[in-house]
Amino acid sequence: MLTPIKAKLAQVLAPEMGITAQRVAELFEIPKDLDHGHLAVPVFSLAKERKKAPPQIAKEISEKLLTLKIEGVANVVPVAGYVNFHLDERVLFRSLYSEVQRQGEKLAWGQTGAGQTVIIDYSSPNVAKPMHVGHLRATVIGQAIRNLAETQGYKVIGLNHLGDWGVQFGKLAYAYEKWGSEYDFKKEPFESLFKLYVRFHSEAEKDPELDKQGSLVFKRLEQGDAGLTELWRKFVDISMADFDRQWKRLGVKHDLVRGESFYNDRLRATEDLIQKKGLLVESEGAMVVNLDDEKMPPCLIRKGDGASLYATRDIASALYRFEELKADLALYVVGNDQALHFKQVFSVLKRMGFSWFSKCHHISFGMYRFKDDGTGAGKMSSRKGQIIRLEDLLNRAIEIVRELMSEKNAELRASDLASFNKISEQVAIGAIVFNDLINDRVRDVEFDWQKALSFEGDSGPYVQYVSVRCRSVLAKYAVTTKAALPEVGELNALESPEERNLMKTLMQYEMVLAQSFRIFKPSTLAGYLLDVCTAFNQFYHHHKILVGEPALIKSRIALVYITQSVIISGLRVLNIEAPEKM
Ligand code: ARG
Repeated sequence: MLTPIKAKLAQVLAPEMGITAQRVAELFEIPKDLDHGHLAVPVFSLAKERKKAPPQIAKEISEKLLTLKIEGVANVVPVAGYVNFHLDERVLFRSLYSEVQRQGEKLAWGQTGAGQTVIIDYSSPNVAKPMHVGHLRATVIGQAIRNLAETQGYKVIGLNHLGDWGVQFGKLAYAYEKWGSEYDFKKEPFESLFKLYVRFHSEAEKDPELDKQGSLVFKRLEQGDAGLTELWRKFVDISMADFDRQWKRLGVKHDLVRGESFYNDRLRATEDLIQKKGLLVESEGAMVVNLDDEKMPPCLIRKGDGASLYATRDIASALYRFEELKADLALYVVGNDQALHFKQVFSVLKRMGFSWFSKCHHISFGMYRFKDDGTGAGKMSSRKGQIIRLEDLLNRAIEIVRELMSEKNAELRASDLASFNKISEQVAIGAIVFNDLINDRVRDVEFDWQKALSFEGDSGPYVQYVSVRCRSVLAKYAVTTKAALPEVGELNALESPEERNLMKTLMQYEMVLAQSFRIFKPSTLAGYLLDVCTAFNQFYHHHKILVGEPALIKSRIALVYITQSVIISGLRVLNIEAPEKM
């Protein structure tokens, strides 16, 4: 947003600063204090080359720009090492409003990524294991980054690197043959599969012979045994049906499923390539790449018994992403417990001579820790079946929200149960997603039900509620005046501090989207939406929007409209729905 004026300023500044307009646009900042202007550009980077102090450079550029009399710019002032722009607030207001109307769903989208493909690996659960809260993070952070990439003009491929291969499938097949008939695969296929998985591991603790048997069965599977392959397929299908159900609830979608098994017939070639580069060495019977010089343990490429490994499949998969799918950027949204794994894989790629290794990023995140939840401490193992399942977490959230809303929205519940249920679900899921995304992803999250589901605090429901409030103000305006939205030409600058501050906050949206993607942190956008809500509430509590001069009301209505558009658009990028009522 604000694109026309920003684009123009960037163009004018480019020759003055000796850099491209695109680069100038990336440098724009918003001064903290509105008295210092609406936009600022730092010139520190020019100091060395020009052999001048930044304040002097800022002064010279400001003076030059003032003589140009740029339309929409009221003043240009040097402030320390910055060139600050005071915009004409009426022009600013009108341009924001018309941009919002023109851009619709693609509000404030940019073109930085045009012509480039980004592949985002996210959610990627493991067959036979229910998705747990760790996958919640991998799912919602991944989907939000995916949406952010789209706002920057990238072609995006959302990839599911499904965990569908490895020795556990030998174990599972062994367990199925031995105890499968004791479970009801017709009625509850996925539960039965998971129970088998848990059972195998608990029995194997007592009898290590089972692990050996499992490995042998896996070997037969790797060699292409037809019956085992069919069974394996069944396990994958059962699991995918369950995952699809969860993704649907969260509104998450992949473009491509490329499970680990997809790389089976590429592993030989991958290994040969590593070998050709002279990187493969034998170590205790296994084949590894030594990473001593980077103070990392060796990257295991093939086990002594010939079985392939997670890392090998990731190396083959990176080759596929860059060489075949022609990625320009590959993001792996995976927990920080796999940090070493990705460091090793990326380092092997570097040693293999692929310059694109630097375009691989592990987008890591911390774990959930549960308050008042005895079972939740630390990271839980799915082997013993004690995990907090994603599904249970969502169900519990919906239950609590339904309860809360039964009091607040008793009327809606009585008159329209279907929409009451839909809204409760939008609010509950929105709350869980926002509660995740508001945290800087690299940190662990202390999960607190009260905080997540609060309607007042820094929560998803709070943001949703502000959008509903905007909606109802606009609806009331439409009913009382029988008028459509104001025309751009009817708007005048609003003068109260609350209105000016809200406007200033709204005009940042475009920059927030760009920044949020640049650092791969949806928390930047989530935090910004809270700022918008705070600024809106200050405005709302200080001014009676629908009372006063008709011309003033029109301008205020336009401001509410911009606010609503930014909030709904921002929520959409975070993959959160905005309910119509609350
Ligand atoms: N399946 C893995 C897990 O659930 C995540 C896979 C991440 N992606 C990758 N390319 N290794 O822990």
